[in-house]
Amino acid sequence: MPTPGSGRGFLWLGLVLSSVCVALGCETQANSTTDALNILLIIVDDLRPSLGCYGDKLVRSPNIDQLASHSLLFQNAFAQQAVCAPSRVSFLTGRRPDTTRLYDFNSYWRVHAGNFSTIPQYFKENGYVTMSVGKVFHPGITSNHTDDSPYSWSFPPYHPSSEKYENTKTCRGPDGELHANLLCPVDVVDVPEGTLPDKQSTEQAIQLLEKMKTSASPFFLAVGYHKPHIPFRYPKEFQKLYPLENITLAPDSEVPDGLPPVAYNPWMDIRQREDVQALNISVPYGPIPVEFQRKIRQSYFASVSYLDTQVGRLLSALDDLQLANSTIVAFTSDHGRQSMDLVELVSLFPTLAGLAGLQVPPRCPVPSFHVELCREGKNLLKHFRFRDLEEDPYLPGNPRELIAYSQYPRPADFPQWNSDKPSLKDIKIMGYSIRTIDYRYTVWVGFNPDEFLANFSDIHAGELYFVDSDPLQDHNMYNDSQGGDLFQLLMP
Ligand SMILES: *[C@@H]1O[C@H](CO)[C@@H](O)[C@H](O)[C@H]1NC(C)=O
Ligand SMILES: *[C@@H]1O[C@H](CO)[C@@H](O)[C@H](O)[C@H]1NC(C)=O
Ligand SMILES: *[C@@H]1O[C@H](CO)[C@@H](O)[C@H](O)[C@H]1NC(C)=O
Ligand SMILES: *[C@@H]1O[C@H](CO)[C@@H](O)[C@H](O)[C@H]1NC(C)=O
Ligand SMILES: *[C@@H]1O[C@H](CO)[C@@H](O)[C@H](O)[C@H]1NC(C)=O
Ligand SMILES: *[C@@H]1O[C@H](CO)[C@@H](O)[C@H](O)[C@H]1NC(C)=O
Repeated sequence: MPTPGSGRGFLWLGLVLSSVCVALGCETQANSTTDALNILLIIVDDLRPSLGCYGDKLVRSPNIDQLASHSLLFQNAFAQQAVCAPSRVSFLTGRRPDTTRLYDFNSYWRVHAGNFSTIPQYFKENGYVTMSVGKVFHPGITSNHTDDSPYSWSFPPYHPSSEKYENTKTCRGPDGELHANLLCPVDVVDVPEGTLPDKQSTEQAIQLLEKMKTSASPFFLAVGYHKPHIPFRYPKEFQKLYPLENITLAPDSEVPDGLPPVAYNPWMDIRQREDVQALNISVPYGPIPVEFQRKIRQSYFASVSYLDTQVGRLLSALDDLQLANSTIVAFTSDHGRQSMDLVELVSLFPTLAGLAGLQVPPRCPVPSFHVELCREGKNLLKHFRFRDLEEDPYLPGNPRELIAYSQYPRPADFPQWNSDKPSLKDIKIMGYSIRTIDYRYTVWVGFNPDEFLANFSDIHAGELYFVDSDPLQDHNMYNDSQGGDLFQLLMP
């Protein structure tokens, strides 16, 4: 399903800096050398922090909130590119898109960039049984049509059989016919196979946990959920949690005046769905009819609650099998949107290795295309407070020194049919962003896809938003900051 980061596109107009919620749950002892700890890595597709644990008042996510309540919750975690395949390859190899050279859906890093080790591969090589359920790597050539088997996994990865119906006509419309809609609440007994992919993935993951209970080796189980990625195909009972009259609109649904056209995402993937097509929304700027905006938000929230019940089933099984006290649970999304500490998803690799007591891979040299095992992110181990380390209190780094980097490619200066997911050969411009605790600064610069080279003297547009005064990033200060003032503006 080659669909990129659509979850944010219709709720947040313009390029949204793919900040993602990551809750790294950890009920481990500091002494992890005696008993190897298991890893359960839960990856959710297109989840933004519409969750109770991130302060959302409307969304019901009791199971994820419960996990977060005894976990380290990162308030400012950023994906390195807000598109499924590049983001997953980036954080699963611990390298940035400019190193994996994957910005689209069309190449396998081992042959295209370098033979980079992955998180599961590293655990496998260190004696773990590694298992993949659902959407972990993006399917297709980006993981060599095998989810990077056999390098990353001990067994062939599991894919739910009902996955193939995600984009087919299974949504009953008001006309009584079946459609391939964006909004797709379903009666599960009526859909093909009488089940949904995330339900099947949960069941498979629980079976694997049961098998692992008696295993002599520790396990690394990655479970990739499909929802709340579009289409919003979820059991219809979850819609009742969100009566339409209770759904507010996005606080800033207008395209901001100062937004450079190159930054705008024309949400072409959403327009392809039958129910959206029928609205005949003008390309590229819309607007989406207000009542349909409400329905999109209702279905996104309902999909999140449905996902939450799956996470709840999985974590209950971990408890019931008495594996919870020996398993590190890491919960993340490939991208989405947020709103303390700034972290990047490329740091997942060194952090999980450190938490499990494995040797943390060394920092990558520049360039690192020839180095199989290294990491571009940071080991975030010092962020975790262990029960038996009370005397060593949690010491965050100086937030002003922290920076999260991300990037997004574009085929042209103005929105067009392939703006949200250009193929490598069509990339003409790369947007590079830095996010600090105070601001987000983006420059859109010329990019040569044959050489993988950005030209920072060829600036097409810029964006600058200050977090405190403009948390929703609606007032671009870039032009005000030109002529030598930029440096002053950015100084704390
Ligand atoms: C871990 O625990 C074992 C046994 O209790 C002890 O011998 C060892 O020194 C501990 N290691 C660390 C790093 O604390
Ligand atoms: C790539 O890495 C894998 C896993 O370490 C190894 O088996 C394979 O031989 C390597 N391939 C090349 C071309 O170096
Ligand atoms: C990718 O898959 C093909 C077909 O299974 C296989 O022949 C090839 O060796 C794989 N590539 C790598 C780098 O392992
Ligand atoms: C909808 O809003 C009303 C009024 O604020 C509130 O009483 C009701 O509980 C809400 N319904 C749900 C399902 O949240
Ligand atoms: C769609 O909208 C365009 C104007 O934006 C209009 O010209 C066209 O007739 C509309 N098509 C339908 C089928 O309503
Ligand atoms: C986890 O808990 C179970 C039962 O509650 C206990 O048998 C087991 O020894 C514990 N494991 C660890 C590593 O503490």
